[in-house]
Amino acid sequence: MPGEVLIAYATKYGSTAEVAAAIAKTFEEEGVAVELLDVRSVRDLGDYRAVVLGVPLYNARMLRVGRRFLARHLRALAEMPVEVFALGPLGDEEKDVIVPQKQLDRSLRRWPEIRPLSTALFGGVIDQSKLRFPDKHAPPLKQFFPTTDVRDWQAIESWAIGVLDQLKPKL
Ligand SMILES: Cc1cc2nc3c(=O)[nH]c(=O)nc-3n(C[C@H](O)[C@H](O)[C@H](O)COP(=O)(O)O)c2cc1C
Repeated sequence: MPGEVLIAYATKYGSTAEVAAAIAKTFEEEGVAVELLDVRSVRDLGDYRAVVLGVPLYNARMLRVGRRFLARHLRALAEMPVEVFALGPLGDEEKDVIVPQKQLDRSLRRWPEIRPLSTALFGGVIDQSKLRFPDKHAPPLKQFFPTTDVRDWQAIESWAIGVLDQLKPKL
């Protein structure tokens, strides 16, 4: 549908997809039509007016399918309003965010053509019961037992509303 905003997410264990769905819900409640898709299902950006990309950090950079999405759609993304959020930090103190923030910034610098109107970094999730090989054996993750979920839903909603204010005049 013309005028739609694409909310595309990369995810391995689902937490980023859930944040993307919450952002989509906020957009819809504010009367903005969205399409919510896994990045791997996006064929063409031609009909969208703006893109919100959600991607988790893994091993110090954006998850590979997220990077592939940026590379594949680089030309279109360089010409349209783009907003980016990432999941990563597994603690909610300031010190927990410093390294993931650097990882996100460095990862995005690889695509200078894409200039997000805003970027956000939200706390992530570790659920030991879901982790598959080899993630299960990553030693730094052992301390997050059995489940750590530091997603701040209020911060996520506030960011979505701020993003809507930025995007509405451009839709
Ligand atoms: C194997 C593994 C490696 C991770 N590496 C990082 C990292 O380098 N930096 C970071 O900030 N978060 C890292 N995380 C945390 C994830 O970004 C977080 O768990 C996120 O919520 C996962 O998103 P998903 O459920 O959508 O896959 C890692 C998580 C796992 C399981």
